Formats: sequence, structure tokens, C-alpha cells
Amino acid sequence: MTQVKVRLDRAMETSLVTLYGKALDARMTPSILNDHMAVEALSKIDYDFSRMKAVNEKVAPNAASRSKHFDDWTREFLAANPTATVVHLACGLDTRVWRIDPGPSVAWFDVDFPDVIDVRRKLFPARPGYQMIASSVTSEAWLSAIPTDRPVFLLAEGLTMYLSPADGHLLFRRVVDHFGHGTFAFDGHNRYGIWLVNLMLKRAFGNPMLEWAINSRADIDAIDSRLHCVNADSALLAPASRALPPSTRLLTRLVKHFPPLRDLGLYLRYTF
Ligand SMILES: C[S@@+](CC[C@H](N)C(=O)[O-])C[C@H]1O[C@@H](n2cnc3c(N)ncnc32)[C@H](O)[C@@H]1O
Repeated sequence: MTQVKVRLDRAMETSLVTLYGKALDARMTPSILNDHMAVEALSKIDYDFSRMKAVNEKVAPNAASRSKHFDDWTREFLAANPTATVVHLACGLDTRVWRIDPGPSVAWFDVDFPDVIDVRRKLFPARPGYQMIASSVTSEAWLSAIPTDRPVFLLAEGLTMYLSPADGHLLFRRVVDHFGHGTFAFDGHNRYGIWLVNLMLKRAFGNPMLEWAINSRADIDAIDSRLHCVNADSALLAPASRALPPSTRLLTRLVKHFPPLRDLGLYLRYTF
């Protein structure tokens, strides 16, 4: 099998961390996400995965659990809106469109930087109704490639923290302006989460990369009055986290009543 040489830098390289975590989860019993396509993709990649030492059997389920949560929200939206557009921002090397496997009445767009899309094209097959857009989400151009004639579900898993607050705010306003109505699901870290993950990124890749902290729903509510919060759930307490290892679940019980730790990671869903 010809290996795909992957050389990504900065935030783009972290798409390999989540892919690695999901592949590790898929090899565990029980697996949270069962992402066997992630295992297959990983086996095709030529990259020094020894940098991922920290992503072990204890940590990997977190990546799988977050993706499961966003898969569940995507399925819920598509069950209510079988004819729809899905816009998956900062898709990285995630295989969501195959996990969800939407029907022919769904138009699905995956968006990430050109270098990441280039790797996706080498790793994953084409499928009807599925398009990739090679662009930073901070540019306005990607929006014009997406039609506004169907109910739209946008999701951004592992994106907001890599943006500057100004770019993040602009992204939300542009999305609301372009689509008019829709649902936007995304996650965020509070300031302690940003600090903690930056520490890990510095250890693995030599530099901290995260900027924008979302401390509570109030930070998003303040961006635009057209955004309406449906969920602002602690990642530690989310339903998908019930499948996490007992040690992590014990931690969740301990931090339940202590917002700085409870909200290290937040899963947010807004309508507009
Ligand atoms: C931690 S990875 C998450 C990937 C994927 N969502 C997942 O959960 O497996 C972060 C991703 O955000 C992407 N990203 C960061 N800033 C971006 C931007 N301004 N425009 C597009 N993608 C961006 C990176 O390229 C990378 O693929």
C-alpha cells in the first residue's frame, strides 16, 4: 500500500491527534465511536505518531466521546430535517459523513485549510452529495459556495479555540447573515481549559495554539442577538461521556458543582 506522506503544521497538525484518538478508541472494547474508517485512514498515513505519546487508552476515549456527541446532534437534526445542508467546519481528518451516512437529500460540505483538504482527498473516497471546501473559515469566500435553500446544520468540533476572539465573533455573524436561519453546534474551552490544552500542545508540538476561551454561554449570547442558546452542556457531564473510563467518570462527579472545572469543555448548540 502506498503511504500518504503527511506534513501539516500548527492547528492543522492537531487533526492527526483526534484521528489517532478515534482510531485508538475503535480498537478498544467497548469502543465509543466505532470509527473503523479512522483506523484504515491512520494505516495509510506516513507520519511520526510517536509525538502522540500522550494520547493513550485513557485519553483517546475523550476524542471519541466528543465526536459521538456531535454525531448524535447531527443525526437528531437530520431526523427532523431529512432534506438539509450540513456544513462541517474544521473537519480535519474526521470521517463523520461516512459515520452518519446521510441520504441523497442531504448536501454535505466539509471545510478546512487547503493542506488538510489535500490530505483528505488522498485518504478518503468521493461520495454523492459530498463536497470539500479548501479554505480558512476566517475568509468570507467559503460561504458563497454553500446554498441557502435548505435547512442548515453547521458544526464545528475543535475549532473555536484556534480562532482569535475577533475572528470567532466575525464567523458567527457571517454565518447568521448568510443563512438567515439554522442550527450551529460547536464546542469551546473555558479559560482553564485553554490553559490546560495549551500546556499539552506545547509539550507535543512546541507551541501553544489556543486563543479564544468560551467561559459560558454568555460569551456567545453577546455576539449577536439573533443567536439563541439551545444547549450549553459540560463536556464532562454530556451523555456520551457516560461511556468514558471509570476514572474519568469519577472526576466528573467530583467537579459537577465547580464550574471552572465542570466547564473545561463545553458543547454548545444555538439556533438563529
Ligand atoms: C483538533 S482538530 C479537529 C478536527 C476535527 N474537527 C476532529 O474533531 O477530528 C482542529 C482542526 O481545526 C482546523 N482549523 C483551525 N483553524 C481553522 C481555520 N481558521 N479554518 C479552517 N480550519 C481550521 C485545523 O486545520 C484542524 O483540522
